[in-house]
Amino acid sequence: MRRVCLTFRPLHAPCAAMSDDLPTIESQARTAIAAAGDPAALDAVRIALLGKTGQVTALLKTLGSLTPDERKRVGAEVNALKTAISAALDARRAVLEAEALAARLAAERIDVTLPGRPDRAGTIHPISRTMEELTALFGAMGFGVKEGPDIEDDWHNFGALNIPSHHPARAMMDTFYLDAAAGSRPVVLRTHTSPLQIRTMLAETPPIRVIVPGRTYRSDHDATHSPMFHQCEGLVIDRGITLAHLKGCLIDFLRAFFERPDLKARFRSSYFPFTEPSMEVDIAWDRKSGEIGGGSDWLEILGAGMIHPNVLANCGLDPREFQGFAFGMGVERITMLKHGIPDLRTFYESDVRWLAHYGTSPLAPVTLHEGDAR
Ligand code: DAH
Repeated sequence: MRRVCLTFRPLHAPCAAMSDDLPTIESQARTAIAAAGDPAALDAVRIALLGKTGQVTALLKTLGSLTPDERKRVGAEVNALKTAISAALDARRAVLEAEALAARLAAERIDVTLPGRPDRAGTIHPISRTMEELTALFGAMGFGVKEGPDIEDDWHNFGALNIPSHHPARAMMDTFYLDAAAGSRPVVLRTHTSPLQIRTMLAETPPIRVIVPGRTYRSDHDATHSPMFHQCEGLVIDRGITLAHLKGCLIDFLRAFFERPDLKARFRSSYFPFTEPSMEVDIAWDRKSGEIGGGSDWLEILGAGMIHPNVLANCGLDPREFQGFAFGMGVERITMLKHGIPDLRTFYESDVRWLAHYGTSPLAPVTLHEGDAR
């Protein structure tokens, strides 16, 4: 390239040694661009070359003093130089930006595998915790977990369970009836988890061992009753099942759940339409100290019994071949006793102070405690 005879004063340090020889200007510019270590330095180089008073801009300004022929030739050369420098600046800017982004990503790295900060962690609601414990304890005894619909037809909720039409549980005032489709069975919000006995026996062949933790509904509301509450049903069906199995299973469970291997339990004769014989199970407690499992008073804790032959027959099982037992307990009740919670209504108030106090860390796994449930 020809030498262009121009005199001008370089404005900025990076260009201080520049001459007016175009290849030299270009190579000096490239050196300065490559040496710019950050966007600000690169900008200074750009201004020194292409800014209003920059070196290349000054060259362009002098074109007017040249002859038309020279202007055409030199103009093309200077413009080519300007284009080349612009491209080099853009390329360097892209590199610097990529480097800056990589540095930021490295500096601001977030470890998404870290557990949440403990002070911000929520807690597992005591009802959920109890259901997890029931699942673990009965799971260790070979029980699976079943779930079923909250909206239940009256055959599964009452009829198939041998509950007669005059039974008080069927009264409108005790139960939430829903509008059923024309021609179909009346439907209720299930009043207990026992309909899952029917659904399980119809769907599976013995041997059957399941528990059913879930929501249940009754039109009750005071310090010890809520219109929505939770129960856990248990069902065992096989050949040769006796009351001894029922007793052994429930005693083992109660000892494990209340974490007291010497817990005293009592089986008291009672009545449920779907079991024969039926019984209520009490645990010992001390009225004065509140101690659970020992003492001279008794607390009713759950209902149980041997499956009524009519119920087995309603599910297509021959009562002469298969026997079984069932039990049902209130999840709130056993939770209140285990943790000393005095008022049922507080379970559903979502008071974060209460939840922090009675809740369990989500990081604390359910264990089998020191009980006898193996
Ligand atoms: N379903 C009964 C209730 O809600 C509880 C119950 C009693 C369930 C005896 C059972 C049982 O499985 O055998 O009051």
